Amino acid sequence: MIYTFRNFKNVAFFAFGRGTFDRLDEILAPRRKGTDSYVVFLVDQVFESGGLRERIPLHEKDKLIWVSVEEEPTTRMVDLYRDEILSYADSLPDAVVGIGGGSVMDYAKAIALMLTNPGSSAEYQGLDLIKDPGVFKVCIPTLSGTGAEVSMTTVLLGPEKKLGIKCDYTMPDQVVLDPDLIEGAPREQRFYTGMDCYIHAMECLTGTWRNAYSDAFAEKSLALCREVFLGEGEDPREADEKLMIASYLGGMSVTYSQVGVCHALSYGLSFVLHTRHGLANCIAFNRLEDVYPDGVKEFHAMLERQGVVLPEGVTAGLSDEQLDLMVDTAFKLEHMWDHAFGKAWRDKVRPEWIRELFLRM
Ligand SMILES: [Fe+2]
Repeated sequence: MIYTFRNFKNVAFFAFGRGTFDRLDEILAPRRKGTDSYVVFLVDQVFESGGLRERIPLHEKDKLIWVSVEEEPTTRMVDLYRDEILSYADSLPDAVVGIGGGSVMDYAKAIALMLTNPGSSAEYQGLDLIKDPGVFKVCIPTLSGTGAEVSMTTVLLGPEKKLGIKCDYTMPDQVVLDPDLIEGAPREQRFYTGMDCYIHAMECLTGTWRNAYSDAFAEKSLALCREVFLGEGEDPREADEKLMIASYLGGMSVTYSQVGVCHALSYGLSFVLHTRHGLANCIAFNRLEDVYPDGVKEFHAMLERQGVVLPEGVTAGLSDEQLDLMVDTAFKLEHMWDHAFGKAWRDKVRPEWIRELFLRM
């Protein structure tokens, strides 16, 4: 095992349990600086109608922004939301709260950072480029699997690349995990997002950067995913609780290990086709039987058990230029290949092989 030196931050405050969302006002109270200050709530547009809207503990000066997540988060939208907030009041918000799936949580994290760091968020895509910690960040998942609620990155599509703003400051300060919130998610969306977590665990456990710390989280995460997606007669409420914790543990695992081949390919797919992360992972993982034989076999069993049919031929209509860009995007994610195959990964990983894999998707 290789123990790469790391000294990283964790989530500072963590609340878990059914009904926890209804304690949000209480949870935010210590962060509110006074009656004149405000909190920004970024909420998935899907909740614009429905009961959740009424349960958001809005104070008079608070700002509520409905976020569209039809496409993956972009640096352009982060900058626009940031500008909207800065023109809303003379002072910074006391907190930025993201309520939604991985995309909304990533928006909340990125915007909270960009409120105090000058320029465009595209300038900060990379490792440790952020200089100021930003505003207090709260993540409340309504879909489970991405691990965004516990990750030190916020993955954005920029003009030149799909890459995270990764640093200690990106880590959420407060997490609220209420399994009731993921109950109504559409079946396929729940599956694709859940598989992100399964794949995080699988990639962490099979790469060269694995270690006792990441293994411990990944193993439990994987076991919970199996119960959720392969279990017989699983109580749906219990399954939601397990999935929520599996996602959290999967995120913890990645922090001290790394994602692998599937994520590298998935980033390539998303950069060119704007495919949502969970779905892109599933499309990529489906063709990785030579790299993750046991995982792919189990993934197929999960697809069947959950009655989900993956789209095929997604790369069929691509031009040579688009395919080159897809290959190039994936190939550049050196840390993922390094984790998957070791320092000599270039001996095994050729752009032609990546291209062949894409053409089978
Ligand atoms: Fe992921």
